[in-house]
Amino acid sequence: MGSLPIRWRGAVLGILGLVFLFPVASAHAYQDQEAERGAAVFARRCSTCHGDRGQGLTDEWRATWPPTHQNCWKANCHGAQPYPENGFTLPRVVPPLIGPGTLQRFATAADLYAYIRARMPFHAPGSLPEEDYRAVTAFLLQRHGIPADGQPFDPETARGVPLRPAALREEGASGDAFGLIKRYLPWGIGGGISAAGLLWGMIGWLRRRK
Ligand code: HEC
Repeated sequence: MGSLPIRWRGAVLGILGLVFLFPVASAHAYQDQEAERGAAVFARRCSTCHGDRGQGLTDEWRATWPPTHQNCWKANCHGAQPYPENGFTLPRVVPPLIGPGTLQRFATAADLYAYIRARMPFHAPGSLPEEDYRAVTAFLLQRHGIPADGQPFDPETARGVPLRPAALREEGASGDAFGLIKRYLPWGIGGGISAAGLLWGMIGWLRRRK
């Protein structure tokens, strides 16, 4: 094959850098309107179990219900002997979804979406319209400090939207630095490769002119 002219090598490197950047740059977070609709979905379909503020099924949240509805785990409710018809057994702990340290097990927005889509609402998984699943995911992203970018939530490109850095950011300064590094590392690498390619190409071009 022989050796590639130096300026071509530069171009190849530049393209490589762009290819690396592409999935990062094309990651769609969500739209403000989606998150707003998601808040309504959450209130209707999720808050009974996860709390009005996403605090989880806390004693404080159950205390807002009529006295006869406050014990979710008694027999003939959602306990070991659930309602005779259409009943389900509710786990003792219903986790919080909003606030510091929540949703830690999900690395990206795509993981969060996939879990909700497959497993929630707990008693009727998969029962929501697709757009409601996207909207409620957008709402949770918003509550975790991920800014809207005007692009509709997309389960494919959501893999490029990290969730953990935002969760860490709420926990203090050391998490903050770590989160920022993780978030911008792909940009740094991609940009670095592109810049190196450009520089290499320019050197090759200058050498040729001599
Ligand atoms: C009937 C009660 C109930 C409803 C309604 C419900 N969930 Fe859940 N949810 C649970 C329980 C219980 C768990 C824990 C499941 C487990 O540990 O396997 C859970 C877990 C989750 C988790 C994982 C949290 C973590 O950190 O592990 C997410 C995310 C979630 N639910 C989102 C939703 C969304 C969004 C809705 C509304 C569309 C919803 N849930 C509706 C009961 C419910």
